[in-house]
Amino acid sequence: MAEAEFDVRMTVNGVTRDVRVPSRRLLSDCLRHDLRLTGTHVGCEHGVCGACTVLLDGVAVRSCLLLAVSADGARITTVEGLTRPDGTLSAVQQAFADCHGLQCGFCTPGFLTTITAALEQNPAPTEDEAREIIGGNLCRCTGYQNIVRAVLRAAELRAAEPGAAEPGTAEPGTAEPRAAAGQAGTP
Ligand code: FES
Ligand code: FES
Repeated sequence: MAEAEFDVRMTVNGVTRDVRVPSRRLLSDCLRHDLRLTGTHVGCEHGVCGACTVLLDGVAVRSCLLLAVSADGARITTVEGLTRPDGTLSAVQQAFADCHGLQCGFCTPGFLTTITAALEQNPAPTEDEAREIIGGNLCRCTGYQNIVRAVLRAAELRAAEPGAAEPGTAEPGTAEPRAAAGQAGTP
């Protein structure tokens, strides 16, 4: 018997997307294969590495642990959606460039989304807190020193531009203040 399929509507990077998926389709697979947003990377596929992290209603989640059907009605931001509407890099993206926070880059989308959400909750982390923020994301190149620097640099960049909400963290049509609470870190 054919597997039942379900209609799912999500707002992905600000665009309404309709997909029809089997009940067991992972959100990560839906993003990559159905919506062709291959910036979301899949490493372990069981919630360990963090490479698949996306923002769901502004909260960092592991898309390999969520079914696409459970994201029906949600606002999803992938790494492709982190760039600001004017095409400039977000503070976290710029910080990774400034600090060379990536080597092979496979883990980078998950770090960028995780840090974006975490800095909404804690806009001025200490170095220890920066390490904690990225504690759930694995870099197989072990490039953590520069990633920690990038977290701190991103916080500096955000502080220098207090009015500029990062993509994916504000409700559509609102100018969410930088210090808005409620953005949980990666589960
Ligand atoms: S692929 Fe999802 S946590 Fe590793
Ligand atoms: S930069 Fe290579 S896995 Fe992170």
